[in-house]
Amino acid sequence: MDLVCDSANSMQKIPTNSSSPGKAELPLDLTGPHITAGASAAHRLYQALCEMIVSGLVKPGEPLPPSRTLAKQTGFRRNAVVTAYERLIADGFADATVGSGTFVAARIPARATEPKKPKIVVEAPKQGAFSLGCTHIDERAVQRFRAFVGRRMRAFGSEHLHYGDPRGSRELRAAIADHLLSARGLRCDPDQIMLTSGTLHALRIVLSAILKPNDQVWCEDPGYPAARNTIAHCGYRAVPVPVDQHGMRVAKGRTAGPNARAAYVTPSHQFPLGVQMSMPRRLELLDWAKQVGAFVLEDDYDSEFRYDGAPLMSLAGIDHLQRVIYMGTFAKTLFPGLRIGYCALPERLIGDVTAARAALDRFPGTLMEGAVADMLNSGAFAANLKRVRKLYREARDALAETLEARSDGALSVPVPSQGLHLVARFDPSVELSVAAEAKRAAGAEGWLLADTYSRARPLPGFVLGFSGHAVPQLVASAERLARESRAALRVKGKSARRA
Ligand SMILES: Cc1ncc(COP(=O)(O)O)c(C=O)c1O
Repeated sequence: MDLVCDSANSMQKIPTNSSSPGKAELPLDLTGPHITAGASAAHRLYQALCEMIVSGLVKPGEPLPPSRTLAKQTGFRRNAVVTAYERLIADGFADATVGSGTFVAARIPARATEPKKPKIVVEAPKQGAFSLGCTHIDERAVQRFRAFVGRRMRAFGSEHLHYGDPRGSRELRAAIADHLLSARGLRCDPDQIMLTSGTLHALRIVLSAILKPNDQVWCEDPGYPAARNTIAHCGYRAVPVPVDQHGMRVAKGRTAGPNARAAYVTPSHQFPLGVQMSMPRRLELLDWAKQVGAFVLEDDYDSEFRYDGAPLMSLAGIDHLQRVIYMGTFAKTLFPGLRIGYCALPERLIGDVTAARAALDRFPGTLMEGAVADMLNSGAFAANLKRVRKLYREARDALAETLEARSDGALSVPVPSQGLHLVARFDPSVELSVAAEAKRAAGAEGWLLADTYSRARPLPGFVLGFSGHAVPQLVASAERLARESRAALRVKGKSARRA
């Protein structure tokens, strides 16, 4: 604490020969951050006394020791102590009465009377088995990435010394355009690509370019809670639209959100249920968008991790980027800490979205762009995906098999043909509290399926991540969760019979 005392001129003389014994040893801290190094002895002592008083180590009204005693305790000269006491009194931290001595003031100014600041706790996302959003990056890919970053840093030059294109470097945008064509059947020009710091960032930028405050946005129900939060946080209204085995129920959207001008969907692998949006439903959604002049935001978050069969073409590919904005991320294909994602824009939106980006945060950081372009262009990215896909498939199978085998029929676990998470469900008649209790008792991470619902009737179950976790750890955690699921069901069954 650095207390500024500007009332030194109004100091009053204090009785230095008081008869009050005061505290034998004051709890003074003469070295902490509240002390100004190099200040005079009197000032440092004054600061230590203030700190002691405002932090409540001595109470209001308590006597302070005579100056001679304090000089002895601290090793300071007596006149330094007297000066410190005088400033203390002048600033209202102490009172003096001739003949009785010096006392801590009955009412303390400054910090002791300030309201206590609330303790701010920010919980970092957990990383144990089942937590979502963990990735694995193969050691060979790490080495290539390190080498690319090193090379780019050594060549550090003028391209980083000025403000850049709000869409990011053309080199990386061109590499992404090539990737989208080969991996997702999406043909677009690098000019249509914008780099972002992830999917939610892309969502925020695009919505701010196409919507007005309070506009409606259709969202899948159940759906990705983080996207719903972003939409609400930006001042738009997320309208829950139910999902069935064909994906978002467009007809329901038309009645629930008739004025919506945007829809956020995960058509290739619905989050969290995992269904693939059927072709008739895709066409119905695109028809709606054309008819009302709306845009569809396609979150294609995990299509690179397809385990069985060929992926369906992206919605944006079917639409030829007319009414669909495609959003992708390196958070899963490389690692979340990279904070690089991208969107592919219909040509008619490039101007508005670029202006929105410039207004929000100017342009993306340039340091990592080159190395990520090198990963894509050298084939290291594709090679890593191939190796990691194999690991994730093994993790998926081990998790699904263990849950099915150990839960004794309590859980059904459809094996997803894509992605980095699976859903394990109880029978729909089971109370939601059974899943919550099992998760708590097992100390499991991941999510309750019910937490991904907005308005639709939630189903009891879990959303469990399997990527980036070692198989033995996943299996042990799955055994625990299966055991606790059986136990929670038994307890509920008993209490229902009793009632
Ligand atoms: C449905 C969905 N979309 C997108 C993402 C990636 O988001 P970001 O790129 O903002 O990290 C995730 C990450 O877990 C996700 O689950």
